[in-house]
Formats: sequence, C-alpha cells, structure tokens
Amino acid sequence: MATKHPTRRNILKIGGGITLVAAGGLLWRAEDRGVFTHGEGPAYSAWGMWNAPEYKGTPFALVAAAVLASNPHNTQPWYFRVTDTSVSVEADRARHLGSMDPYLREMHIGLGCAIENMMLAAPVNGFAATPELQTGSLAEDASRSGRSLAAIIHLAKTDPASEPSPLHDAIARRHTDRGPYDHDRNLPDGFTGGLASLANGMPDVHLRFIADGDARERIDSAIVNATTAIVADDDMLHDSNVWFRNGPDDIEKHKSGITLDTAGMPPGILAAAKMLPPLSAETSHRAWLNATQDVHVPSAAAMGVIAVADRHDIKSSLEAGRLWQRIHLTAALAGVAMQPLNQPVEMADRDKQLGRAPDWEKRISAFSDEGFEPTFCFRMGMPTRQAPASPRRPVDEVSETA
Ligand SMILES: Cc1cc2nc3c(=O)[nH]c(=O)nc-3n(C[C@H](O)[C@H](O)[C@H](O)COP(=O)(O)O)c2cc1C
Repeated sequence: MATKHPTRRNILKIGGGITLVAAGGLLWRAEDRGVFTHGEGPAYSAWGMWNAPEYKGTPFALVAAAVLASNPHNTQPWYFRVTDTSVSVEADRARHLGSMDPYLREMHIGLGCAIENMMLAAPVNGFAATPELQTGSLAEDASRSGRSLAAIIHLAKTDPASEPSPLHDAIARRHTDRGPYDHDRNLPDGFTGGLASLANGMPDVHLRFIADGDARERIDSAIVNATTAIVADDDMLHDSNVWFRNGPDDIEKHKSGITLDTAGMPPGILAAAKMLPPLSAETSHRAWLNATQDVHVPSAAAMGVIAVADRHDIKSSLEAGRLWQRIHLTAALAGVAMQPLNQPVEMADRDKQLGRAPDWEKRISAFSDEGFEPTFCFRMGMPTRQAPASPRRPVDEVSETA
C-alpha cells in the first residue's frame, strides 16, 4: 500500500489549527490575567461611589472620601466609627508593613491623608468639622494588633458650602504615578511656591523642595541606595511583598495592595508581565530597584521632603499625612505627577529598630532644617501617561455605625 504523505494544504490546515488553539489559549490566559481590563469590578467601585447620592449629607460621605486617600503600600490601615456628630478614625494596626514600617509611622501618615479627605468632604456635605488628633509616641507603642484611636472628627450640621474647595474635586483624580516623567516639560510657573503655601499655618511641619545641585545629587543617591538596602534585607523584602497582588482574583479578594497596573510599566511590558506566572519577591523587587534607579529618580523634575520635629510623634505623623494629601491633590488639579519615594526614611527606622548605628538618620538629616526630621520624601514632574487607580475596600467594609 502506498504511504500517504501529508499535502502542503493539510500541513497548513494542521498548523493553522494549532496556531488557533494556541492563540485561543493565550487569549483566554490574557483575559484571565486582566490584560485587557483595569479598574473594573468591586475592588474599584469605591472610586465611583465616593460622591454617591446615598452618602450625600451623611457622615458616611466623609468615609467614602477617606478611603480614596494616599496610604502606604495601599494597606488602607483604617477603620471608621460613625455617629451623627462624629467620625472616629482608628488605626487598624494589623494592616501593618512589618519591618518596612516598624513604628507604624507611615501607617499614621496614611491616616492623616484620610483625615484630610474627610475635612475636604465635610463642608460639601453640610458639616462643620473639627479634627481632634491624638497625641503620643509611636516609639513607645508600636503594637501590631487591634485598633487604636488616631483622631475624632467632630461634626456640626451647617449649610452645605456653596463654593467647595477645588481640592475636593480632585479626590478621585489623584493617583500615584510610578511611570517616567517628561524631563523636557517644566513644572507650571509658581507651582512649588503654591505648594509651599499649603504648609502655612502648620508650624510643626516643614516642606522643602530639592530640584538641583549637590542637595539633589545627595537625595537622589540616598533614594537609590536605600532601595538597594531594602532589596538586600530579607525581612523587608518579605514584609513588602505580602502586599503585592498577583492578578485579578487576588485583587478582588483583598481590594488592597500594590498591583502590576500601578507599577508604571510601559503598556507592552505590562501586558507581558501580566501573562507570566507570579514573579518571586526577589524578581519584582529587583525590577522596583531598577525602576527607581533608571526611571523614578532621573526623570523627576524635583524632589520634595516633609519634615517634623519628631517623626515618631502620632500627631506630627497625622499632620504630615494631611499635608501630603493636600500636596498630591493640588498636583492632580495642576496636571503634575507625583510619587512618594520614602525609602531613605524607611531605612532610618529600620536602623533604629535593629539598634544599628544611625547611618541613615544622619543621611536623611541633610534634607531638613535643624531641629526637624524628614518623615516623607516624594518626587514630582510632568506626566507621560495617565496613572491608573489602585484597588480600595469600600465604605461598608471599613466602617460601622457606633
Ligand atoms: C506614608 C506613605 C509612604 C509611601 N511610600 C511610597 C513609596 O515609597 N513608593 C511608592 O511608589 N509609593 C509610596 N506611597 C504611595 C502608596 O503606595 C499609594 O498611595 C497607594 O498604593 C495607593 O495608591 P494611590 O495613591 O494611587 O491611590 C506611599 C504613601 C504613603 C501615604
């Protein structure tokens, strides 16, 4: 019997079939890994709900604004107890960053950011709000379980403000931008001067900008060196990685944490990264170090530093957070991109936690005036693309009527 050889047409048919199956598999995987979507589903609903009619004129409108605030590693370390005349803001200490934030200092900065959003939402919703910030030292009580009171926002009914602060409109437009900034475009005229005035009336909080010269070289290298030190510290690597989310299912489950979408990668690389199996902590943090060194630091138009008299003081941390939130909202309104780069201060706290020589403390002290300690560093510049939203736990998951 003559042997049947596959014809050229048959080979093409079989090849085409395999290609189709492979393409179908790839498409399925791409769909499953969220390559074609971002910012949809319950993990992102808080961004659309924050000004919803059902909250309007109630204290829950303040909570809906609070949950959209900047916060460390998107841990959302907050809980809100609501009455008709107050909202208590509590630190949810179990949502800590471990050795990345051993004194819960960044946690309290994040709570300050949430408080600032509440203060902006209060007048629009017919409340005169008075914040009562807690005092005390984080260096003495850095316990990492349970909840502790950070502030009470006292509320009195009043007519809704006819002219709300423009910053209120920016609440849902503010996103951390980890992409490259456009070095060829200058910051808008008078922009940093305007930011400096945001710290007026806050004698305990200092704001400094570092755009060029030796000081710029020093802060740039401190940020890169501190990132290198974090990546080399197994505990910090692990504690940071706990909050990295891998794919849509993980994001839906937690509605918190750092996602690939917000990492600032170019679109093609982002799609490829989403298709790959989960990256190890080492690989993803090495990519973070490379981005810090090659993109974040060199493309920034200027660095900013918020300093306080004692960075482990609870009230000062809350106030630093309030200022950072105002700064970032102001930037969102002006079309300026921003990203915290707080690695040097994280390393100073890590040295203190381990009882090591205060090398990082000395290094960061160069970025603030005598008698003040830096607690928060950030970069700014003109954006090259739109920064995406990060997930949020909605109001009903983080609050209750007291
Ligand atoms: C105290 C504090 C420290 C932060 N440190 C960093 C940082 O070092 N690097 C970074 O990319 N983002 C940092 N962030 C930004 C948060 O990761 C970001 O606010 C959070 O993921 C939520 O995302 P969103 O700001 O886009 O809403 C920090 C924010 C706060 C409040």
